[in-house]
Amino acid sequence: MMGNKILEVKDLEVKFPVRSKLLASKEEKFKIVIEKVSFSIMEGETFGVVGETGSGKSTIAKTLVGINYPSAGEIYLMGRKINFNKKSDLIFLRRNVGIIFQDPVGSLNPKLRIFDIILEGLNFEEKYTKEEKRDKVYAVAKKVGLNESKLFSYPSELSGGEKQRVSLARAIISPKKILILDEPTSSLDVSIQAQILNLLQNLKEELNLTYIFITHDFNVIKYMCDRLGVLYYGRMLEISEVKDAYENPLHPYTKDLMNANITIEGNSGFESETELGEPARNGCIYLNSCRFKMDICNRDPPMIELNSRLVKCWLYDKSQKEDYIKVKGSN
Ligand SMILES: Nc1ncnc2c1ncn2[C@@H]1O[C@H](COP(=O)(O)OP(=O)(O)OP(=O)(O)O)[C@@H](O)[C@H]1O
Ligand SMILES: [Mg+2]
Repeated sequence: MMGNKILEVKDLEVKFPVRSKLLASKEEKFKIVIEKVSFSIMEGETFGVVGETGSGKSTIAKTLVGINYPSAGEIYLMGRKINFNKKSDLIFLRRNVGIIFQDPVGSLNPKLRIFDIILEGLNFEEKYTKEEKRDKVYAVAKKVGLNESKLFSYPSELSGGEKQRVSLARAIISPKKILILDEPTSSLDVSIQAQILNLLQNLKEELNLTYIFITHDFNVIKYMCDRLGVLYYGRMLEISEVKDAYENPLHPYTKDLMNANITIEGNSGFESETELGEPARNGCIYLNSCRFKMDICNRDPPMIELNSRLVKCWLYDKSQKEDYIKVKGSN
């Protein structure tokens, strides 16, 4: 069941310092990795985020749990504006938003036993006794289908699927509103992937969670997601219902992605993309690869609303269309 807006991201910008001396001219001390990204998440939905490697998916995820800080823009969680310089706001964020990282090996401390790793999820909860905490670890292990006998193993002794169950247990041991799943199954065998996806579906129902699901895999999107945000070099180019994105993609980039996916057999990723140009420095970011480009595209398009979908492309701007036709006609 979908409800109210639970998370709102407005004009988010995230930048990182450029370390290389070669790249850092006077004005380029920072690399903007996320630029003016806006989206809203409704309570109870699974919002997919798709994009090529390096497009900024994990950067957005980490910002939403306060690991990265925004350099501009606003984030509202359940109506509360998050001030990233305020400790109480960061705790509010981390209490309510959990994350499963894409690499279960790197995100589990190899020196800790599984029991203690899961316990890390209670870091912000001081109100429980030792016994209560232990009971919670056992209960959540059961919930994610992790055998009790594994609780005193080390991460290196677990399979990939078991490790992702541990990450999940750590994330939900204290109740969460939103769970961000950053390619939670991309490192797993296909048969194990299905188990984890089913587990995630069941937990979502049981715990009334809202998901942000980051993935490369179109099959996973179809199976898991309600709406889809398409990210390209740090810009959100389209936000649509998954069905619409497949059947009638709006943005030329989404169209190209869907075509690549459909025509290249057995490949559900983006690695098959071969003819894409460089991202444009000025104007629309997709300018150099776009089959539909127009003169106006030398200006960065706004996010345009179209039948409750959002698309960052001049093709859908009514006021520009006449100009475009005029320009075309005069040539
Ligand atoms: N802490 C950091 N410092 C500097 N640059 C960073 C940092 N984190 C990410 N980046 C850069 O930001 C860009 C986006 O990275 P990000 O990890 O968000 O991409 P992604 O979409 O998750 O890719 P993948 O699909 O490979 O996981 C990349 O160019 C990356 O090098
Ligand atoms: Mg990533």
